Amino acid sequence: MVKVREDKKKANLYWLEIDEMTQRPATRNLVKGNKVYGEMLVQDKNQEFRFWDPYRSKLAAAFLRGLEAYAFNSGTSVLYLGASSGTTASHISDLVGLGGVVYCVEFAPRVMRDLIQVCSIRNNMIPFLADARHPESYNHIPQLVDVLYQDVAQPNQAKILVENAKRFLKPGGTAYLAIKARSIDVTAKPTRIFQREEKTLTQSGFTIVERLSLNPFTADHVFLSAVYGAS
Ligand SMILES: C[S@@+](CC[C@H](N)C(=O)[O-])C[C@H]1O[C@@H](n2cnc3c(N)ncnc32)[C@H](O)[C@@H]1O
Repeated sequence: MVKVREDKKKANLYWLEIDEMTQRPATRNLVKGNKVYGEMLVQDKNQEFRFWDPYRSKLAAAFLRGLEAYAFNSGTSVLYLGASSGTTASHISDLVGLGGVVYCVEFAPRVMRDLIQVCSIRNNMIPFLADARHPESYNHIPQLVDVLYQDVAQPNQAKILVENAKRFLKPGGTAYLAIKARSIDVTAKPTRIFQREEKTLTQSGFTIVERLSLNPFTADHVFLSAVYGAS
């Protein structure tokens, strides 16, 4: 039988103890009975939890790799760049609850259709069909956010993050960036690429607070946590 355990340090995050060797992150389902990507649902004490698949979500993989820089709570506002069909964004929607909000930017019309469906039943998720390289095109987001999350698999990933932070991230806010070396340059050494992207961030007012490899869940990725405007 799967046991549910609350994470004592990370608000609204849970762990499913599958067996003695295997633990997986989970969130309490904001929309009971509803699955977003076919994930397992677990009932415990009148509550429902969604298994958070680390092979489908880099944030879940980061938790399993020991992420400490945790910036989510009930009421947190998030701008999510590269939301795809809403897998990770929907778990963040569980973490921040109805008092929070997840603005989801995605530029591919095909996955946008699925994302709109997810947003239509989760009242704290708002979809934007837009290109994250042009943050001026969604300037109508009505607030500065606490958290900027980016997973876009593009060249110039750090630059995209910086341009979005300038417009939308609160001073002292947290950014999470999944960097995919191969999307930037297939010929260069991944470590060089990661260093270059980090330099772009630090030269633009970010302090890197954590750096994780996501192996074995996702190859060739580094997951950065950074604080904006902190000295
Ligand atoms: C690796 S997938 C994201 C998976 C998602 N973060 C998750 O965990 O559920 C990358 C997504 O970023 C989108 N994307 C890539 N470049 C983008 C851009 N410039 N603006 C908006 N979305 C972009 C792609 O269409 C794709 O859906």
